[in-house]
Amino acid sequence: MRLSVAPMMDWTDRHCRFFHRQLSRRTLLYTEMVTAPALVRGRALHLLDHLVEEHPVALQLGGAEPEELAAAARLGAEAGFEEINLNCGCPSDRVQSGMFGAVLMRDPVRVAECIAAMRSSVDIPVTVKCRIGVDDQDPHEVLPDFLNKIVQAGCNRVIIHARKAWLKGLSPKENRDIPPLDYNLVLAMKRAFPDVCVSVNGGITALDQARAFLQAGLDSVMIGRAAYHQPADILATADRDIHGDGSVRDPRDVVADMLPYIERHLTAGGQLYQVTRHMLGLFAGRPGARQWRRTLSEGAARPGAGPDLVVAALAAMPMDAAPVGRIGAGCSGTEVSVDAWSIPSYPVSRTFDGDRGLCRHAGRAFGCRRRRGSGCGVFLRLSGAGLWRTAIDADVFGDLAGHDHRHLDPLCPGAQ
Ligand SMILES: Cc1cc2nc3c(=O)[nH]c(=O)nc-3n(C[C@H](O)[C@H](O)[C@H](O)COP(=O)(O)O)c2cc1C
Repeated sequence: MRLSVAPMMDWTDRHCRFFHRQLSRRTLLYTEMVTAPALVRGRALHLLDHLVEEHPVALQLGGAEPEELAAAARLGAEAGFEEINLNCGCPSDRVQSGMFGAVLMRDPVRVAECIAAMRSSVDIPVTVKCRIGVDDQDPHEVLPDFLNKIVQAGCNRVIIHARKAWLKGLSPKENRDIPPLDYNLVLAMKRAFPDVCVSVNGGITALDQARAFLQAGLDSVMIGRAAYHQPADILATADRDIHGDGSVRDPRDVVADMLPYIERHLTAGGQLYQVTRHMLGLFAGRPGARQWRRTLSEGAARPGAGPDLVVAALAAMPMDAAPVGRIGAGCSGTEVSVDAWSIPSYPVSRTFDGDRGLCRHAGRAFGCRRRRGSGCGVFLRLSGAGLWRTAIDADVFGDLAGHDHRHLDPLCPGAQ
């Protein structure tokens, strides 16, 4: 798997993973860390809940007891995860007091015992996410030894967060930024362990950077914060540009794809913000990003907030596009099916919240506005970036809903 989104507590929950999956079919997604004691002793099996649509997904476990980890890995495999990953990189106090996470960098023999126990209990890959060292360790000495021991125990995939963790004196957040990155050491580990699948993690903020690591010989790249905060930049082109298999996703289509999921979640008693909090960065760096973020973050926690808020936020995105045509008298050409103007549970006639709504054309979703009194019918707009935008005139709106198709001429004169 050439690209993955890192495990992140409180962030990469099932809603986040479903959302990320709409952006990339092929990228490997990780769960938040689930502790083996919670699963095995606490029987907190709900922590494994997820949908098949999220796959491929790796379950990250925290723990340090071989038998307990083996039992937790078995539960994970039974729940359908594609990979079991052992956390050897988290420096938080809570994790340290359980003697797992980054402190395990000091005890490679124990990590090897854990790997061996997990390997003997499941058929799926057992992998490790580690640091290059902790505290005053010399990474050039300890990392090869650590890898050697876990590889001998049966781990043949490792994700290396290319910086040390300081177990005392730095918070977990500081431990993600302050210790310097040493990518060269990760590259050296790939050369030293050519048969092991080596993935680099830490500080990667663009797909070009990821591609450069792959070209330099690494097998895979893991991205955390950038994938969460700018999901479209990292994931929307990943299938085409990293995995070489798939197309580029338009963030607007992703919003449309999330609506049925959101409805199901609300019907099951969930709340809107639990899903939309992961979507705030979807338009990061694009026109309207701030308004999108504000609309969702202010509105989604209000009582009764529903998918209409998301539809309205999308429709409020700026219409910066140049017009290319309209539906109306005298126009003919490309056929637009009325079915294609809606998503299944959102027929056009129900999507409107005030003057704004959501439409689909040729499988793509558009925010749209009802334009009162303009008399110019329905017209499509095409932005410089190739994104279709739609506006619907109040007069033809009712008409549209009642017909099988309409005709549209991209060169229709008078379009505006
Ligand atoms: C909010 C947050 C929670 C995290 N939780 C975990 C975790 O549960 N397990 C883990 O191995 N790493 C965790 N990490 C670390 C990330 O997986 C990753 O190693 C780190 O953010 C560096 O990668 P990045 O620079 O691409 O973000 C977390 C990071 C963040 C920002």
